[in-house]
Amino acid sequence: MNKDAPIGVFDSGVGGLTVVQEIRRLMPNESIVYVGDTARAPYGGKDTETLISHGREIINFLVDKNVKIVVMACGTSSSTSYEILLKEFCATPIIDTIRPAASELVRIAQTRPELKPVFIATAATVKSGLFARLFAAQCPQVELFSRACPLFAPMVEAGLSTEKNNPLLQFASDNYLADLKGKVNALVLGCTHYPLVQNALTRTLGDITFINPATATALATKAAITPSQFAIPEINYYTSGDPQKFSEIARFIMGKECNAKPCCL
Ligand code: DGL
Repeated sequence: MNKDAPIGVFDSGVGGLTVVQEIRRLMPNESIVYVGDTARAPYGGKDTETLISHGREIINFLVDKNVKIVVMACGTSSSTSYEILLKEFCATPIIDTIRPAASELVRIAQTRPELKPVFIATAATVKSGLFARLFAAQCPQVELFSRACPLFAPMVEAGLSTEKNNPLLQFASDNYLADLKGKVNALVLGCTHYPLVQNALTRTLGDITFINPATATALATKAAITPSQFAIPEINYYTSGDPQKFSEIARFIMGKECNAKPCCL
């Protein structure tokens, strides 16, 4: 592993930037190449073959950029494509978001016997059943709710989460989850777009524990790399969609200029 090579990160759009924030916080000396496949977002309603093919194209793009590791900052790719792509790209370490998230919930469940968790994610992620299987294997005694919330990622891509208290986001959140109020006390944000709608979720479900897989994913990445000592690390953003639109939402999320370049996948 070339320690000064960048970390490659990808998602269907801007959601994976929630993982970039954690990578930045825990590994401030690392350079990053980010790909948001905005032209083909959302991923959550696509079939497994299509998702594997998109993931393959993006990882090839990142490998061409000489990344030292790939972070699949997308719950949907992680739950449908990880194992196959890991075998195909055996020379490149790949980290996903779902497996670290499941380990994190297991860890929390072991110290909180009163835990009543819900896992929310895209339709494809919930349909894969991966998170529920991984969790049940370790904590069969804990009841886990699972809910697909398919409109959240497109709403974030449309910029709705950049507005304070957006009524459409709140309407979606209430529709998806209001019946669970009082029945759950912890929520796993199983799609990387969802930390960006956490305010709406709090208004629907009250003061519960949120588990953002970005932290466990960044920690797993940190454990897998040889660290760089870059004095001025950089982030290069690429999008398959409209660079201006991507850059605007990315600036809101990252809190600084993010000038995305176009990429053809
Ligand atoms: N942010 C991605 C995920 O974690 C993809 C969401 C989507 O494009 O539907 O699932």
